[in-house]
Formats: sequence, structure tokens, C-alpha cells
Amino acid sequence: MRRFEEKTVLVTGSTTGIGEATVREFAAEGAQVMITGRNAERGKKVLADIKAQGGNADFLQADIKDSSACDKLVEETVKRFGRLDILVNNAGVLYTATVPDTTDEQWYDTMSVNVAGLFFMSRAAIRQMRKQGGGIIVNVASESGLNGEPALGAYCASKGAVVQLTKCMALDHVRENIRVNAVCPGETHTQMIADWLASQGGDLDKLIRDLAKGLPINRLAEPREVARCVMFLASDDASYCVGTNMSCDGGNAATGGPYPL
Ligand SMILES: NC(=O)c1ccc[n+]([C@@H]2O[C@H](COP(=O)([O-])OP(=O)(O)OC[C@H]3O[C@@H](n4cnc5c(N)ncnc54)[C@H](OP(=O)(O)O)[C@@H]3O)[C@@H](O)[C@H]2O)c1
Repeated sequence: MRRFEEKTVLVTGSTTGIGEATVREFAAEGAQVMITGRNAERGKKVLADIKAQGGNADFLQADIKDSSACDKLVEETVKRFGRLDILVNNAGVLYTATVPDTTDEQWYDTMSVNVAGLFFMSRAAIRQMRKQGGGIIVNVASESGLNGEPALGAYCASKGAVVQLTKCMALDHVRENIRVNAVCPGETHTQMIADWLASQGGDLDKLIRDLAKGLPINRLAEPREVARCVMFLASDDASYCVGTNMSCDGGNAATGGPYPL
């Protein structure tokens, strides 16, 4: 029996990047997965690939800034697969700007997706998980939720909120058999990091090489490596992990300062 056989997993922001890797990995381990995001073309491509490999999956287009869309996502997942065992709150956006250079739109978009969207999804999922007698939530926070970073004020604030929400939801619901934890990834090879680096100007490959040199592990994470941490927290192996914000950052959090020293 594969590790997630008969489990239903909903992953927000699974049309690309870490979320896409996460649905692919869960499906490969037997889970029935609900793929979601705003981009239907990319979502349907991920769906077709998973199905072609014998996986059980579906796609629903949704913008998680809308609380009723989040309720519907959970409702439709239950209609399609019978229950919701695992919610992975992965969708996120990042804008690079210091506070005086951040526009109202950037601030509200960051907070609406990274915090409110995660809140709406969790609320809908917890209501469903209570009816079922339990469930698991894994949030994709960030190392930016644990430490400050230059020109990432809105993003860091939003991820700090995710770190705190993780702890609060974990405490509120552990006695209802609902376990909540978070992964805090470091720099991971996705479009988000490419866009962030591009905003600094210059050759992207060189920027990636330079970024890697500053990381203890000397390379960026691949999305699959973050997905595997999410899966650990979603598995029975993590049965005693409650409210943890687990770093998956190639050693960044361990440095406590600039690296190399
Ligand atoms: N890459 C990194 O270095 C890194 C490091 C630490 C933490 N993280 C976190 O990891 C998560 C995934 O990041 P990533 O690097 O994989 O980013 P990405 O490649 O840009 O993917 C972001 C995902 O979020 C979805 N999304 C964005 N806005 C949405 C909205 N309003 N409604 C629904 N879905 C929405 C996107 O789907 P659509 O475009 O289809 O809507 C996409 O699937 C994020 O929470 C990010 O903050 C990333």
C-alpha cells in the first residue's frame, strides 16, 4: 500500500512551482489530488500529466482571494472524492519593494493571497475536517516568515502571519484530531524566484549562481525537495508534530547571520 493511498489532498497554487511538484508527488504515492489555481491552461496540463501516469486527480479553477471560492473548492473536492484529508496551503505571491516603494495594490494582493486566502482555505477545510473526525493542514510559509529580508516587507509580513496562524490553528484544533504545521522553504527553483532575481537586473543564470554561493548548501532547492517536506508533515511519520514551522532551506536558518562568514 502506498503512503497516501485513499487520501484526498487539495493543494492551492498547484498549477506550477512547489505546488505542482507537491500534487505530482502525492499522486505518485497514491493520493487523489485536487489541483487548483487561476491558470486553467497550466492546471489542466498538470492534470493530464498526472492522469497519464495513472494518478487520480481533478482540476478546479479558483482565486483564493475570494472566500466563497475557497468554500466552493473544499465543497467540490468533497463532492468529487468523498472527503478532504489533507490541505496544503501553498499559493503565494511576492513583490520586491521596500515599504515606501510598495503600492497599495501590491500590499493588498500580498495580504489577500498569502494571508487571507490561506485563512479562508483553512477555515473551510477545518469545518469539513471536523465533520470527518480529523485532517491535516500543511502551510507553505517561508524563511521570510522567520527572518527579515531586504525589499520584501510585505512578503515577510505575510509569511510571518502564516507562521503565527500555523501555531494558533495547531493549538486550537489538535484535540479535534486536526494537525497543522508549516514548511519554511528557502530559495527554491521556481518562477517566483526567477521573477525576484530578474527584478534585480542582469543575467539570470549568473544571479542564480551568485545566490547559490551565499547558501550553506551551495545550491537552490528543487520544488520536489520542498514537496517531500510537505509530505513528511502530512504523513503519519509526523504524528507528534503540531504547530511546527519546519525549515527546508539548505542551512540558511542555521547560520544566524551572513554566510559565508
Ligand atoms: N520559490 C521560493 O524560493 C520560495 C521560498 C519560500 C517560500 N515559497 C512559497 O512557496 C509557495 C509556492 O511558491 P512558488 O515558488 O512555487 O511560486 P510560483 O511558481 O509563483 O507559484 C505560485 C502558485 O500560486 C498560485 N497563486 C497565486 N495567486 C493565486 C491566487 N490569487 N489564487 C489561487 N492561486 C494563486 C499560482 O497559480 P495561478 O497562477 O494558476 O493562480 C501558482 O500555482 C508560495 O507560498 C511561496 O511564497 C517559495
